[in-house]
Amino acid sequence: MLAGTSCGGSPVRAGKEVRADGSTICVTGDPGGAGPGRGGPGDRGLAPVINPSTNYERQADGSYRQDRQYTRADNPTFEHAERLLAALEGAGCACALFASGMAAATAVFQSLLPGDHVLVSRVLYWGVRKWLAEFGLTWGLDVEFTDTSDLAAVEAAIRPGRTRLLWVETPANPMWEITDLAAVCALAHRAGVRVAVDNTVATPVLTRPLELGADLVVHSATKYLNGHSDVLAGAVLTARRDPFWERIRSWRRNAGAVLGPFEAWLLQRGMRTLFLRVHRASDSALAIATHFHGHPAVAAVLYPGLPSHPGHQIAARQMHGGFGGMLSIRLAGGAGHALAVLPAVQVFKRATSLGGVESLIEHRRSMEGPSSPVPGDLLRLSVGIEAPADLIADLGAALDAVQGHQAAAAPRTPAAGQEADS
Ligand SMILES: Cc1ncc(COP(=O)(O)O)c(C=O)c1O
Repeated sequence: MLAGTSCGGSPVRAGKEVRADGSTICVTGDPGGAGPGRGGPGDRGLAPVINPSTNYERQADGSYRQDRQYTRADNPTFEHAERLLAALEGAGCACALFASGMAAATAVFQSLLPGDHVLVSRVLYWGVRKWLAEFGLTWGLDVEFTDTSDLAAVEAAIRPGRTRLLWVETPANPMWEITDLAAVCALAHRAGVRVAVDNTVATPVLTRPLELGADLVVHSATKYLNGHSDVLAGAVLTARRDPFWERIRSWRRNAGAVLGPFEAWLLQRGMRTLFLRVHRASDSALAIATHFHGHPAVAAVLYPGLPSHPGHQIAARQMHGGFGGMLSIRLAGGAGHALAVLPAVQVFKRATSLGGVESLIEHRRSMEGPSSPVPGDLLRLSVGIEAPADLIADLGAALDAVQGHQAAAAPRTPAAGQEADS
């Protein structure tokens, strides 16, 4: 059996060795304990089996074998993927897969009670912000956005006895702000506040929030965990099987936001190469960020791996082996230039989402709509696993084309593309 890792206060081995264990767990598909999710005894297949059954037969005495009744409650195929992910985030943790990242995130919020005060990262994935504004409020949650990278702001925003959850995303979409997880968890716990961390962007390859004190971890497994842009999936992990965890599991069972067995199988297959993909994407993102930092067409490169990033020191402490594959660039020529870069790229794909093998480029403000707080001059890049030199050449040519075109057009249309930033 493979050596596991631990969370919830048990000692943890040094970063390098733990990460090697994680990559081996992914490649072998064996999280330990119940084995690699293969078929029955004697089955030596290297790939796990898919069990699509929705229901299970009762034995003559009316009982169920292994307590299995109905797939809305549990299913061997998604249980295998759950054990794999739990082994990556830390042994002793439990995992529940959901039909999407949003289903996972909202299961956490909907397990709270009306009137509960919730503190949420001011910069975070737009879908979560939108759901909180549209449905969290009608659910009765008292939602407050705060800058979680500012510990004093978090401390001031906590309402003792009323704040039930602190929701942190780090690095946070799409500005890639960094929250100090160990510090914010210690601060929240002193006030009895539970901390949930959206670890979609860092993945357990780079950051393991449960070991830094977080109570819950949430993933859009649609992104890096699956990694091939062909599965929608989500996950919630817990450091403890406490009553709040049971409520989340009960929510999934009763609301029915489960992952299908085929999707769970694809997810575990994608996870076999998770470590390779995340390390490659991180290395390439750092190369791209470094290359375009200071480029005349670029006003700013937002990437925690750059020493100039305000969260760099913290990121270097809590992210191991890289700073992730996500970065944004702000165009010196404003929103018009940002939009003009999009049709000029050839290797980057113009698409939303992130964490797949292919590199993506997106104008977030257009995607999020008029209420978006994202600056209009910002392009978000999800760096894939293509040759980094091709990505740099592609983006460089697109920036040059836009700059050259602007320079030629400037005498006739001096204000073209110079939309005011938000
Ligand atoms: C950081 C983050 N969390 C959650 C989600 C939601 O995940 P899904 O699209 O799988 O519902 C996303 C989707 O982009 C995301 O980027």
